[in-house]
Amino acid sequence: MTGRYYVTTPIYYVNGAPHIGHAYTSVAADVVARFKRLAGYDVFFLTGTDEHGQKVEQAAQAAGLEPIAFADRVSSDFRAMYDAMNVSYDDFIRTTEPRHIAGASALWERIAANGHIYLGAYEGWYALRDESFYNEDELVTRPDGTRVAPTGAPVEWVREPSYFFRLSAFGDKLLELYETRPGFVEPSSRRNEVASFVRQGLRDLSISRTSFRWGIPVPGDAEHVMYVWVDALANYLSAVGFPDTANPRWGYWPANLHLVGKDIVRFHAIYWPALLMAAGLELPDCVFSHGWWTIEGEKMSKSLGNVVDPRDLVGEFGLDPVRFFLMREMPFGGDSDLNRKAIITRMNVELANDLGNLAQRTLSQVARNCGGVLPEQGARTEDDLALLAQAALLPTVMHGQIDRRALTDALEEVWRVVRACNAYIDRQAPWALKKTDPERMAVVLRVLVDALRAVGTMLQPYMPASMDALLTQVGAGADERSFAALETPLPAGRVLPAPQGIFPRYVEPEA
Ligand code: MSP
Repeated sequence: MTGRYYVTTPIYYVNGAPHIGHAYTSVAADVVARFKRLAGYDVFFLTGTDEHGQKVEQAAQAAGLEPIAFADRVSSDFRAMYDAMNVSYDDFIRTTEPRHIAGASALWERIAANGHIYLGAYEGWYALRDESFYNEDELVTRPDGTRVAPTGAPVEWVREPSYFFRLSAFGDKLLELYETRPGFVEPSSRRNEVASFVRQGLRDLSISRTSFRWGIPVPGDAEHVMYVWVDALANYLSAVGFPDTANPRWGYWPANLHLVGKDIVRFHAIYWPALLMAAGLELPDCVFSHGWWTIEGEKMSKSLGNVVDPRDLVGEFGLDPVRFFLMREMPFGGDSDLNRKAIITRMNVELANDLGNLAQRTLSQVARNCGGVLPEQGARTEDDLALLAQAALLPTVMHGQIDRRALTDALEEVWRVVRACNAYIDRQAPWALKKTDPERMAVVLRVLVDALRAVGTMLQPYMPASMDALLTQVGAGADERSFAALETPLPAGRVLPAPQGIFPRYVEPEA
């Protein structure tokens, strides 16, 4: 083992059904988790559901259910979505579980014991949709004169007794954090936004509510429930056993990576480190913020009726093409558009043509012309060695990219090798060598099988099921699929299964 690695997704609100935005963060985290496992790390990949707060309480009411019954239903739908997307989480935490309530309460008590919580009264703007407080000067005036949150969410004036977290005392420490550990918030554009928000001065944060009941009671004052973001952020600790530091899972803390969407950076890059500092706990290594998908050029929203359930896409295009599309189309950290045309193009060009055809051409020639067994590596030429050398660099190069959260670049790196393989097969023309130099033909095909094995191994985090099929076809056994295993060649003479296409072309159904 090379060490421990703790990666998280946000925990999702259960007020609505899982959609493509949730699937996106989770597939990205899954790629990182699977990659680190194949690189030999002891990985803890956490996800879950955020089940408290007024927003969930209201959604439950609207559905005519008790909040917990409603949360049970939606939370299990999130798990079903994960199964459909092949997300390999190690733990799924629900904020209504006793272990989380214990963790969140302990976090509160620590912060209070350190003198950073006081009782006061909150008066100000609150956006229920965002479960967020906004300052007066952050509001935006609509053409019709109404004022809304910068996210467009309606705001209401709230006035109630409240516990406060002394956030104002942490401004300088946060700025020092961004300065001394620039990797704490990424990409840098987000870090700049966060830093400039902090530089404008932080106000103390209202962290309890009395106007509804669906939350974790404030320790020592059950009139109040915890502000849902304090409750939610604590999940990253409670899942690893906090406050029980003797729990073996506690060894995963601090987390290596919190993956979040750009809308929730403020909570993760300002509130979260401040709360941890106040509790005297170590800070995570990195909060990475990814961009947002629009759908066929439009913002995804319930009112537009264009909310995409990832399972519908999987039903139409297949699981791995959808995972591939999500990771390939949007430069990780930027924004992008999800549309049918782009999915079909990626499927047909990059999957079916570039990779699928390469595998099919190579493996069918091995089946036909090499007796269906893995050929000897033989005497290799410079051209052979150059291609293999390029493939052999993938684990190191991609590991660097994954550690920099360049998930899209890492994929592009594999495609460079795939394209090099296609140029190589055309140049070497093994089908022509069949008559003129069968020995050379076998060497060429073996070079291609070895390169395909490297490609298949490195793509497992992105497309686990299809790469499982590819690796089986190139003769790699279940224990020969880690990155380290690539250093040991597969023995010649191994019988290969009959080749089968892994990426069919997408053909539009007749109208
Ligand atoms: N419950 C909070 C998170 C608490 S974490 C301690 C929350 N939940 S959420 O259900 O609203 O999920 C938000 C996640 O989905 C965010 O990371 C958000 O960026 C992501 N997405 C929501 N819509 C999205 C797109 N259209 N595109 C990409 N991601 C999007 O916030």
